[in-house]
Amino acid sequence: MNMKIFIAEDELSWIIQQNYLLLPIINRFGLSLGFGDKKVNKICDEKGISSDFFLAIINTYHNPDYFPEEALLSVSPLMIIDYLQNTHAYYLEYSVPRIESLLNKLLEDCSDHCTELNMIESFYKKYNEEFLIHIRNEDEKIFPYVRDLHQYAENNHNNQVKYGKYSIRQFEKEHTNVDEKLNDLKNLLLKYLKPAYNQNLCNEFLFALFQFEQDLKDHARIEDKILVPKVLELEKKINNA
Ligand SMILES: [Fe+2]
Ligand SMILES: [Fe+2]
Repeated sequence: MNMKIFIAEDELSWIIQQNYLLLPIINRFGLSLGFGDKKVNKICDEKGISSDFFLAIINTYHNPDYFPEEALLSVSPLMIIDYLQNTHAYYLEYSVPRIESLLNKLLEDCSDHCTELNMIESFYKKYNEEFLIHIRNEDEKIFPYVRDLHQYAENNHNNQVKYGKYSIRQFEKEHTNVDEKLNDLKNLLLKYLKPAYNQNLCNEFLFALFQFEQDLKDHARIEDKILVPKVLELEKKINNA
């Protein structure tokens, strides 16, 4: 894959030709198909999106070795939270249902010797339960906490009343655990599935898992390396207010 770093003068449709997996990432900024010949800076201007943030996110996703930590750390926490929350919505509305429907197709196609597949299903269910708890915790607790902190910081307000000694440090310890489970699931298919299953359906299921995994890795990296340090900084500011 071409590991170029995309810039504001690149046409968005050309960027997608280089890496079509960026499409759902671009959607998270409220951008949809029909980009014409427009360049990134024009499209971002029209939509009121920071093109620096947009480029940081798509480049980070496109190139696993690229991580513009400084640029991302200078972005408003509210913008980061919006992006992360839109990403969650994509997982809940699209990735998870898609993976489930592909798994169901595989199960329906299997008439006997379905032991491994049943094992994979129960493994997947456990994984998904954990994943949903993780996402819900971020949506319902962490993100509202960050929004409040941001508000307090703007108003030189102390956060003791509502959150006491709570800190973001207590959060984001479980990414590795969730990641590992998804990797185990892929390995179950890659290493131990009997050849009797419909290969095309297996491949589709695996493609969906690989894509989901890549997206999640990128997502967790932004949470751990950008969101957490930013929030620690806010906490420090507020506790000294
Ligand atoms: Fe998340
Ligand atoms: Fe997370």
